Amino acid sequence: MVTILSNSVLACDITTIRNKNTAMPEFRAAMERIGYHLAVSVTQNIPICQHTIQTPLEETAGCELQGDVVIVPILRAALSILHPFTALIPTAKVGYLGLKRNEQTLEPYEYYANIPALTQNSTVIIIDPMLATGGSITAAISHVQKAGATNIQVAAVIAAPEGIACIQNVYPDVSITVAVVDRMLNEHGYIVPGLGDAGDRVHGTE
Ligand code: PRP
Ligand code: URA
Repeated sequence: MVTILSNSVLACDITTIRNKNTAMPEFRAAMERIGYHLAVSVTQNIPICQHTIQTPLEETAGCELQGDVVIVPILRAALSILHPFTALIPTAKVGYLGLKRNEQTLEPYEYYANIPALTQNSTVIIIDPMLATGGSITAAISHVQKAGATNIQVAAVIAAPEGIACIQNVYPDVSITVAVVDRMLNEHGYIVPGLGDAGDRVHGTE
């Protein structure tokens, strides 16, 4: 399933991150706000269990998260949207996955992984601002599946139709939430209109 968010203030922040004249501080701030929209959406239906609590007035039904939630940001660019997820789910664990695209082959290679123990009770949310060819996110899904995860969701800011199709072909059961779907990938594997290189714009590298 693919969810595409729709919200006026979100649309304005997407404009901010697309604009090549947006400086790094404003870029980071807009990314963080966009992260909140994604975090609210992907957590809408994560498993909860019911239990009874006592208000000062009477007993009432309540709930708590069932199992653990593990956020997996794909380094580096996803660091810009990590905080909204941990703010919304303070008990969430964080598993870091370092993936870098080879700019010639567009294939990602893994250079770092530090993921908490995963079980069938874990809800794993893989986050990355850019879903371009889909190579990085499918590699991340494969990694967490091998580590024991069965309940996996993906959240991205800007997606190319090619990247969404890639994930759906390989992992049809994984739900994908994106803020916006762009027109296409160009000949260099960049999303157009896109925002350029997300990692560089977040971290000030070239
Ligand atoms: C970018 C981006 C995604 C990936 C998307 O990262 O942040 O992780 O490319 O491309 P794909 O869908 O074609 O795999 P990059 O590899 O440039 O690393 P960086 O975040 O360290 O800059
Ligand atoms: N990675 C990026 O940072 N931007 C793109 O458009 C594609 C991959």
